[in-house]
Amino acid sequence: MSHSITKICEDFLSELNQAIGEQSADSIFVLTDENTRKFCLPLALKSPKLEGCHIICIPSGDENKNINSAVEIWKYLSENGATRKSLLISLGGGMITDIGGFTASTFKRGMRYINVSTTLLGAVDAATGGKTGINFLGLKNEIGVFAPAETVLINIDFFKTLDDANLRSGYAEMVKHALIDTREEWERVLKYDLEKLDFIELKELLARSIRIKERVVEQDPFEANIRKALNLGHTFGHAFESWSYKIENPVLHGYAVMWGLLCELYLSFVKLNFPKDELLRLKYLTKEFYGTFEFSCQEYDALFELMTHDKKNDSKEINFTLLANVGDIHINQTATKEEIFECFDFFREG
Ligand code: GLY
Repeated sequence: MSHSITKICEDFLSELNQAIGEQSADSIFVLTDENTRKFCLPLALKSPKLEGCHIICIPSGDENKNINSAVEIWKYLSENGATRKSLLISLGGGMITDIGGFTASTFKRGMRYINVSTTLLGAVDAATGGKTGINFLGLKNEIGVFAPAETVLINIDFFKTLDDANLRSGYAEMVKHALIDTREEWERVLKYDLEKLDFIELKELLARSIRIKERVVEQDPFEANIRKALNLGHTFGHAFESWSYKIENPVLHGYAVMWGLLCELYLSFVKLNFPKDELLRLKYLTKEFYGTFEFSCQEYDALFELMTHDKKNDSKEINFTLLANVGDIHINQTATKEEIFECFDFFREG
């Protein structure tokens, strides 16, 4: 599988024109949600290459990254003459780029697609690396394929329409990338001031963060081994996120990841002697900027059950990526139910 190079745009419209021009598509479809249609599409439509394009709009929110929305997209493509030579541009956050990539790569066995990420979370993670999918039966990304975008474009100006919570949600994945990389990167990311949100500094940190992901994906596009490093924080994180949907009090993905990182660094401390002072730095950051996820011991079994369904598991055992130190990655780790419950206790202690 060849990999797209993610571009952080200096001049969004000319880079978008160029990316579309390179594809010589017979027709162009732009996938948006209600938010990106309002806030981001008007700028994209200034591109002469998008004159006469088809616009598809689906409801926003991860709860709509489902089979019904996928059917709507396939139906629209089919009824409006899309072919294998057509191009889909997914304009949105991770929800849109995931479902856009999935529907494009399965339509007539695959049409090309470009991701234009409009959120920090999407830019740092979902848009890059070729993972596409939809949620199914309450499980995150249960159905999907690996299929890389032709190009991934990031326009930092779109992030200015995001609130603090959504920016923090994206920053959580940057924390994850730093933790699997080097101590220098971890220090650099920790120094970023989440109260001030300097976009120039953020752009530089984001570029570094995306390169970390691209280096990992290049080595292991289909997640047979080292790509599992990118799952750090996500075994607990996905359980928190799925549970939040079940109890109809949804949390942002990055918040669930940050809470998951805290649990998994604690597990790393217990099992691999991960340094306690670094664990406490993460704990401080989490409590300060991400608050907590409320649950009681009565919910432990349900959360554990969600973790056993995680697609990262190989057999009956729950699969974790843990760290012996910053950048010292140990994939394919397991833990007992008691150890997992101990992490819940640590998390709830505050
Ligand atoms: N989100 C993790 C990965 O792309 O592998």
